Amino acid sequence: MNRFRSILTTRTLFLALSVTAIAALTLRGGANVAAAQSTPRSASPANPQYDEKGAVKLPADYRQWVFVGSSLGLSYTEGQPAMEMFHETLMEPSAYKHFVETATFREGTMLALILHGPGENVLPGRHGRFAAAVHGVEMAVKDSSHRPEGWAYYNFAGANGIRLTAAAMPKESCYSCHAEHAKRDNVFLQFYPLLAEAAHISTSGNDAAAADMIAYPAPATTPTAKTPTEPLALNGLDPVALVDGREEMGKPEIVEAHGPYRYQFVSEPNRARFAKDPARFAIQNSTCLVVPGAQIDPTLFAVYEGHIYGFATTDCVSEFKDQPAKFVKKP
Ligand code: HEC
Repeated sequence: MNRFRSILTTRTLFLALSVTAIAALTLRGGANVAAAQSTPRSASPANPQYDEKGAVKLPADYRQWVFVGSSLGLSYTEGQPAMEMFHETLMEPSAYKHFVETATFREGTMLALILHGPGENVLPGRHGRFAAAVHGVEMAVKDSSHRPEGWAYYNFAGANGIRLTAAAMPKESCYSCHAEHAKRDNVFLQFYPLLAEAAHISTSGNDAAAADMIAYPAPATTPTAKTPTEPLALNGLDPVALVDGREEMGKPEIVEAHGPYRYQFVSEPNRARFAKDPARFAIQNSTCLVVPGAQIDPTLFAVYEGHIYGFATTDCVSEFKDQPAKFVKKP
């Protein structure tokens, strides 16, 4: 009886194995639609899609991905953060399954980071805070066929909310910190105990990578510096990105005051670049270039030859954009 059962199990196992092997082979060929459909929807490999300019598309179903971790006010600068945001990290289901089985991030892995502002005092909650309005969505994508370094980072927050596509961020804005400080293959596994546990990886103990975070980077402001309360410039767009020719929405938690205004940045390295050379990146003028003597409105601006100029009215902006050289004095 026992022998019979063991033969049976071996046979079933063999059968199961060969079916998987066939499925794998046909799937690799990409032709057998029936085999692909017979696997659960969540397990069929999803890969990043790009538009004709090489910008990645935000997958329509990213909010249904697997939740792997969350953080509150995780910050890279010393001192009190300007604002504590909730972060949630989600992982595309087929890449998640692959990671749980192999502890590796396969080519095509996509992770999304959702950034929320904090909500409080909403009855019946009398204490505590919750993840309220979404301020931003970011994505990490591992695709060596697209970027030689493998991982690329995308910020979907734009001037008018969440964009459907985003171009890869410059390496120094995002990639470098991930490559240097993340626990495993650019991913911050040290902050994702759920994911680590699912893949049977230990993240406890004296973790050098996690300890590093506290020291990165050298703070530009003193630890006791108060949160800047100056009016927000550029509607929250990152001035460093603007000078680099990109419209990226900065984060309320990464800010720097300069002159009468507060600036927001999409990443800590961008804030550090600004702090080093504010004269280059900040709004250049306090009175309007088109209507001399009129105070500028820090939400009305134009970028010209690598500098940001502010204006008094929207008409001034359009007049400037028609003939910028007329208004900017050459040194
Ligand atoms: C100074 C370090 C640092 C920089 C710079 C940085 N990140 Fe991260 N990133 C982190 C940390 C720490 C986490 C861990 C999760 C969290 O923040 O809640 C993370 C998590 C992420 C995740 C979730 C997946 C993962 O890899 O863990 C994405 C997506 C992401 N960051 C995108 C970006 C983008 C886009 C930029 C550039 C605009 C950027 N990051 C710049 C430190 C950094």
